[in-house]
Amino acid sequence: MWLQLGLWMLLLEAAHARLLKFTNVKCLELPTNAGFCRYDYCRLKVVRRNQVELSLKVTLLELPITNLTTRLQCFQRSDGYRPFLYNILFDFCKLMGARKYQLSFERFVFDTIRQHSNFNHTCPWTENYMMVDKFALDINKINMPVPPGVYRLDFTFYAYGIARSLTQVYFEKID
Ligand SMILES: *[C@@H]1O[C@H](CO)[C@@H](O)[C@H](O)[C@H]1NC(C)=O
Ligand SMILES: *[C@@H]1O[C@H](CO)[C@@H](O)[C@H](O)[C@H]1NC(C)=O
Repeated sequence: MWLQLGLWMLLLEAAHARLLKFTNVKCLELPTNAGFCRYDYCRLKVVRRNQVELSLKVTLLELPITNLTTRLQCFQRSDGYRPFLYNILFDFCKLMGARKYQLSFERFVFDTIRQHSNFNHTCPWTENYMMVDKFALDINKINMPVPPGVYRLDFTFYAYGIARSLTQVYFEKID
């Protein structure tokens, strides 16, 4: 009985084609970068239908880094991209360093990427790169309670209060 119900629900899900996947990524060294970092690559790869992997690497040229701040801003596409829910500035070093960082959007995002990145170091940051390796979204693992649509998440990294890089990640949710 329960098994049958489970199968039925699986079939329903397949019919609805629930989906969360990357659709684009852009990486920019900002005008105020001043030789602080350099993107080596920044790309999506379609590995299967509806399975899209994000990989990027940025080389850090001024080590060690003791002060890193990040802005995470979310946009929803509707007649252009409009700010949606989140626009937060947080201490990246604190997020990386604290075991019990408050439950928050930034923690959710970086916990999700952690296994597919080197975002696992505390500051001072002494590794000469930051990278994300073959990270794919999976709607069965990532519960993002947002309406279906196309979204963009902007990551701006500041070192010592100066904006250095911008990574724009586009993704689509289908229910
Ligand atoms: C951080 O991540 C890198 C790359 O995945 C891994 O090689 C390294 O062992 C990790 N370090 C820690 C402290 O978890
Ligand atoms: C990082 O540097 C900026 C600019 O100097 C400063 O305003 C900010 O307080 C620093 N953050 C930390 C956590 O030290």
